Amino acid sequence: MSERVRRAVCPGSYDPVTHGHLDVVERAAALHDEVVVAVLHNPAKTGTFTVEERIALLEGELAARGLAGPVRVEAFADRLLVDVCRDVGAAVVVKGLRGGTDFAYELPMALMNRHLSGVETVFLPGDPAFGHVSSSLVKEVVRYGGDVSGLVPDAVRDALVARLRGHH
Ligand code: PNS
Repeated sequence: MSERVRRAVCPGSYDPVTHGHLDVVERAAALHDEVVVAVLHNPAKTGTFTVEERIALLEGELAARGLAGPVRVEAFADRLLVDVCRDVGAAVVVKGLRGGTDFAYELPMALMNRHLSGVETVFLPGDPAFGHVSSSLVKEVVRYGGDVSGLVPDAVRDALVARLRGHH
C-alpha cells in the first residue's frame, strides 16, 4: 500500500468566499487526505477584499465547519496554478461547475494546466442550491441594498455590507 498523501488544490479568487465555494471545498476534503485552498490572482478581476481579508474569512468558515485540520488556506501572488500544485505536492485540482458557462470558462484552463504540467482537474457538480451564487453577483446585490443571507456565511455578508454599502 502506498503511503502517498492524496492532496488536492481548490484554486480561486475567493473575493469573497461563498457557500458555493465552501460546498466544493468540503466535498473535495471528503475525497482527499488534504486540501489546499489556493487564493490566486485572476488577472481579469480587481479585488474588493485584500488577500489577507479573504484568507481570514476563509479560515473562519473552515474552522466553523471543523475543516481546519485537513484544509489549509494559502495565498500565492503572481504564480501559475501548476507551479502552486507542484510546490504543495498536489496532482489534482478540484473545481465546482454551476453549469455550462462555467464549463466553457474552466475547460481551456484545465487543458492548459494539463498541458503545462500534467496536473488533472476534477470537476464537481455545484450544489444547485447555490447555482445562482458567485462572488461578483453577491457583491452587486449587496452594493445596491439586497440581502445575501444564506448565500455567503454571515461574517462574509457583514464584511460585504461594511465594505460596499454607500460606496457606489
Ligand atoms: O475564482 P476564479 O477567479 O474563477 O479563479 C480563477 C483562477 C484564480 C483559478 C485562475 O485565474 C488562475 O489559475 N490563476 C493563476 C494564474 C494561472 O495559472 N493562469 C493560467 C491558468 S490556465
